[in-house]
Amino acid sequence: MLAVYAARQSADDPLSGLEVGERPDPAPREGWTTVTLRTAGLNHHDVWSLRGVGLPADRLPMILGCDGAGIAEDGTEVIVHAVIPSDGWRGDETLDPRRTLLSELHDGTLADKVTVPTTNLVPKPAELPWEHAACLSTAWLTAYRMLFTNAGLTPGATVLVQGAGGGVSTALVQLGAAAGYRMWVTSRDEEKGQRAVEIGADRAFGSGERLPDRVDAVMETVGAATWSHSVNSLKPGGTIVISGATSGDAPSKAELTKIFFKQLRVVGSTMGSRGELERLAQFVVQQRIAPVIDTTLPLAQARDGFARMAAGELFGKVVFTVS
Ligand SMILES: NC(=O)c1ccc[n+]([C@@H]2O[C@H](COP(=O)([O-])OP(=O)(O)OC[C@H]3O[C@@H](n4cnc5c(N)ncnc54)[C@H](OP(=O)(O)O)[C@@H]3O)[C@@H](O)[C@H]2O)c1
Repeated sequence: MLAVYAARQSADDPLSGLEVGERPDPAPREGWTTVTLRTAGLNHHDVWSLRGVGLPADRLPMILGCDGAGIAEDGTEVIVHAVIPSDGWRGDETLDPRRTLLSELHDGTLADKVTVPTTNLVPKPAELPWEHAACLSTAWLTAYRMLFTNAGLTPGATVLVQGAGGGVSTALVQLGAAAGYRMWVTSRDEEKGQRAVEIGADRAFGSGERLPDRVDAVMETVGAATWSHSVNSLKPGGTIVISGATSGDAPSKAELTKIFFKQLRVVGSTMGSRGELERLAQFVVQQRIAPVIDTTLPLAQARDGFARMAAGELFGKVVFTVS
């Protein structure tokens, strides 16, 4: 089958290890189901894997991809949940210390077919277009848990999203606006900030710019480059929800004094549960949210999508059409 896989890894030149070519079909496994993919999505996780972060070299070659939607063996339309618990795990799979994401231990979704535990299949609402279904499993699920499970917000709250163009950032803006939050964003790029306003943000600011008011919560995925600004932007008692550190995870100032003096909460957040993915899919349909897609490409041209992401050029998701 056609697949997009990491053959090698390079911290400085991630695309040098990317291959688009033939890989064996997935082997059947008891309790698992093979999904024939219709669409798949790209995440920064796939670029990290090519850089050698989170994917040990002895697991190569590895088919990349955490987002996907397709047809299960019984003919039903499904969205693939990418968090794979260890055998016998009960409860929230994101808390399983031995859980993996697709493409970390088991081959991922950037292929004609993927095999996952049958319990990881979420019904795709009939009204949800395939391209939109391809966006939800990772960046959108992460945004959903950050906003609705971990931020402790109620409608009317003001939320700052660090970064405007990314998959998680655009999802945060679209979900938060639909839920009645006032969404503010920062971006390195004024045009991306304006586009964030077009998809539902109330206001956009330059990276590091002083805000007119302090906010109730900050959604952080940029990391080192924005950490001080996130701490400084919060009201006393406010919350930073952090799920990523694209610019590095060691900020020059940890801001510990401000964190305790302002009694801030710092909440780590990773992916979401199967149940949250199911509710996310329903919410997107009920609110008629069209996830922002930067580029749609046939899977065979996946390299172009990776290049846009690695260069930081994106506004929204990269979606691949498979079959
Ligand atoms: N924990 C989890 O479960 C989970 C799930 C999904 C993603 N993540 C992580 O979250 C991060 C974002 O993922 P993604 O898929 O949304 O990636 P992406 O589409 O590549 O987005 C990158 C984002 O980071 C911003 N950015 C990058 N470098 C920056 C810098 N130096 N200064 C300021 N802003 C910068 C960009 O904003 P502008 O271009 O607008 O400035 C953009 O919003 C990644 O690190 C990813 O690994 C974690």
